[in-house]
This record gives sequence, C-alpha cells and structure tokens, in this order.
Amino acid sequence: MIRAKIIGSGACLPDNVVTNDDLAKRMDTSDEWIRERTGIRQRYIAKDGEKTSDLALGAARAALADAGISVDVLDMIICATTTPDESFPATATVVQSKLGMTRGAAFDVQAVCSGFIYGLSVADSLIRTGSAKTILVIGAETMSRLLDWTDRATCVLFGDGAGAVVLQAHDGKGDNSDAGILNTKLFSDGRLHDMLYADGGVSSTQTAGKLRMQGKEVFKHAVTNIAAAITASAEASQVDLADIDWFVPHQANQRILDGTARKLGIDPAKVVSTVALHGNTSAASVPLALVEAVKDGRIKRGDLILLEAMGGGFTWGAALIRW
Ligand code: UT7
Repeated sequence: MIRAKIIGSGACLPDNVVTNDDLAKRMDTSDEWIRERTGIRQRYIAKDGEKTSDLALGAARAALADAGISVDVLDMIICATTTPDESFPATATVVQSKLGMTRGAAFDVQAVCSGFIYGLSVADSLIRTGSAKTILVIGAETMSRLLDWTDRATCVLFGDGAGAVVLQAHDGKGDNSDAGILNTKLFSDGRLHDMLYADGGVSSTQTAGKLRMQGKEVFKHAVTNIAAAITASAEASQVDLADIDWFVPHQANQRILDGTARKLGIDPAKVVSTVALHGNTSAASVPLALVEAVKDGRIKRGDLILLEAMGGGFTWGAALIRW
C-alpha cells in the first residue's frame, strides 16, 4: 500500500514581534485580559509589503532543505491560505515560480483555519492513488491584513506565519505501523457561516472584507467539533487515544486546547501548544506547531501524532500520522 510520508518540514515567521503590551498601547486592551482569555502573549505581524507568498516561500525552502530534496523532485504544491496575495492566481503558483519549479502543478485550498488539514488530505489522496509522488503542502497566512484593528475582540487573537511539509510516496504494509498519513477526516457545516467569516469578497463587495467572529459561539462549537474529529480519526485506524504520542492542534485559544483535552481525557502534556508565541495563524498554525515540536525533539520518528483544526465555514478535521 502506498503511504504519504512526511520527509521534511519547515516554518517561516515575520521578524516583527507584537506583544500584548504593544497592542495595549494602541487600543483598550491589556496583557492580562488577552493572556487569561486566550493564552496568547505575542504574535508575529508581517511588515508592510511582506506578503503571504513570501512567508510561504520561506517555509517551503526550509521544508525542502529539511527533506534534503531539490525542487525538481516536487510534483505539486498545495498552499492552504485564506489571505492570498491576489484574488488570482493561486498563491501556490507564486511559490512555484519563486522556487524555480517549472513542472507539475500548484494550487490553493481554502478552508480557513482547517486549511492545512484539508491540504494534507488532498495530498494524501493524490499520493495514495499514484497521481503524484512528492507534494509540498504549505499553510501560510497574513491574517493581520484581514483584521478590523478597531475590533479588540478579534484583532488581538491573530498573527501571521507559514509552515510546510514535504510528503513523499513510500511503500507500507497497510497497517498502523506504516510511516506516513494513516487517515484524514474532513467535515464542514455551511449553516454556521455567520459565526466566523470575512464581510467581503470578489463577487459580493469587490473588497477582501474584514474578519467577523462571534467568539463565544465559535468557542462553544470548537471543543465539540474538534473532539469529534479526533475521535473519528482515531476510530478510523482503530487507535486508542492513549496510544497517541502527540496532539498537534490548531492554535486558536489555550482554553479550547485545554477543554478538548479534558473532554477526551487526553494528558495535557501530550498537547503541543504554541498559541502563546504565535497567536492564531489560521492555516499556518498546525504546521507551525508541528515544526516547533519536531525541532525541539519532542516528536520523534515512529511517534503517532494527531493533527486537528477547526475554522470558518465551519470547517474542521483531523489527520493521524505515524511520524
Ligand atoms: O480559529 C478558530 C476561530 N477562533 C476561535 O476559536 C476563537 C473562539 N473564541 C474565543 O477564543 C473567545 O470567545 C474570545 C477570546 C474571542 C473572547 O473570550 P470570551 O471569554 O468569550 O469574552 P467575551 O467575548 O464574552 O468578552 C468579555 C468581555 C466583554 O466586556 P463586557 O461586555 O463583559 O464588559 C468584551 O467587551 O471582554 C471584553 N473584551 C476585551 N477586553 C479587553 C473583548 N475583547 C477584549 C480585549 N481586551 N481585547
């Protein structure tokens, strides 16, 4: 059985760190409120002129270097983003060009904060069916461009960044001992649109709009949906949650991470959390957290890891991976 194995990963953050105290100088908020309600201490914000593709390119180069492969080996680039450089073409094609990749295909996926999980799922399917051998999956965002900086209830939550992985076809036995993606689970419910959306778009306002969120409502659905995605993914591969070495969640709010762990009886020490450092970077948050835990040696070859996310749409999902 063909498996999509992660052979490299990398991240890219803007240089510019914005702390909670920095924000408190610009608006009616405080480090204490932000930390207590979210766990966020700081976020990275792209400089003027710094685009999603620049961050995506940085993460892509880091992932290719980590994998030890040249761009010529890549068959595809999938970029998960809600904040593309332009309405078209896809940000993935900008990265393709800047990497010097002259073959294959590149396209974006749009599932907001769940985008990286959706991208992984598409890449896994393409690899397992033999359509591609090596795929770069990127999650990249400049969420700062989509924020209403007069809305303190949302603008303190988000940040910019990018993370990427290289997936490559490997032979497996077809059981849970295989290295690579064991399964992915995707869900959405378009009825919940009004709880989290951008109030603009090409065909409606001809502008990008600004992020709008009913925070409390999102919060309520988040724990339930994320717990359901984790359970579905574990059950699909007949894995006990206790056997999973690391949970790598979307980094929206520390209280959501804690609430989900409590609901499912997961040891909080097994949950990778970077929300304090990055804030919510939407599609970039899962790969950024993943890279952090790989780099610092927590995630090791052979570990069983579960990635999960939830975002606007609503969309949500999970991926179970043998590292
Ligand atoms: O990627 C997935 C999408 N996002 C999420 O998962 C976010 C989910 N939701 C949340 O994380 C939380 O709902 C928030 C962190 C957004 C808000 O926390 P909350 O405990 O639900 O607070 P709240 O909205 O009920 O606001 C409580 C108070 C309000 O004041 P009053 O009405 O009680 O006087 C707000 O005006 O906090 C006030 N407030 C703030 N105060 C200081 C709202 N934003 C701020 C702020 N600084 N930045």
